[in-house]
Amino acid sequence: MKSIVILVSGRGSNMEAVVRANIPGARIAAVISNRADAAGLIFAARQGIETAVVAHTDYPERDRFDAALRDAIDVYAPDLVVLAGFMRVLGEGFVRHYAGRLLNIHPSLLPAFPGLHTHRRALAAGVKLHGASVHFVTPELDGGPIVIQAAVPVLPDDDEERLANRVLVEEHRIYPQAVRWFIEGRINIAEDGRVFVADACCPAFSLHLPPLDIG
Ligand code: GRF
Repeated sequence: MKSIVILVSGRGSNMEAVVRANIPGARIAAVISNRADAAGLIFAARQGIETAVVAHTDYPERDRFDAALRDAIDVYAPDLVVLAGFMRVLGEGFVRHYAGRLLNIHPSLLPAFPGLHTHRRALAAGVKLHGASVHFVTPELDGGPIVIQAAVPVLPDDDEERLANRVLVEEHRIYPQAVRWFIEGRINIAEDGRVFVADACCPAFSLHLPPLDIG
């Protein structure tokens, strides 16, 4: 049985999607948050999952926070650490410690729009496709090897919230899929950073698009 620790900062809907997926061969050992008021902790506790809080406000220096978080995670000796709406940038030492076993979900089609406010920036840029990516975490912010992506259309009457909701539906589909592939040992990261999934049931992309009216 492989052990997973999930980190959240807020709502925790991606964590919930991973938990609800009941991935064979995996056990969610703990859900850890940097915020005591993260709603996701309530869901996790109700599921009987251990929860813990490592408050970033208790650690003025980032290195100390990273070290405390790492200690809290390593109690569970996880095979995989899943960042699910975890809103702190983690330092290089932390990221290297979990190299190859630290996944994140980012609400854009990377490498477009790394960082914050992705939906707002996608609307402002006028892109017609937007989406979400699950990737391995490396020291480069939102720059690690991409495992799976989902694309959605950007519609003319979208605002940030409508677009975010459309993307979120896809996040909840691709994150459990990526975690399942990891647990099944199907994911290989090539030297050049590209991810290959061995004998996958389904492709590493998902498109939910209306047909083109090209006559
Ligand atoms: C998601 O859109 C995720 O991609 C981003 O932050 C949001 C977290 O939502 N990193 P939730 O806490 O999983 O509901």
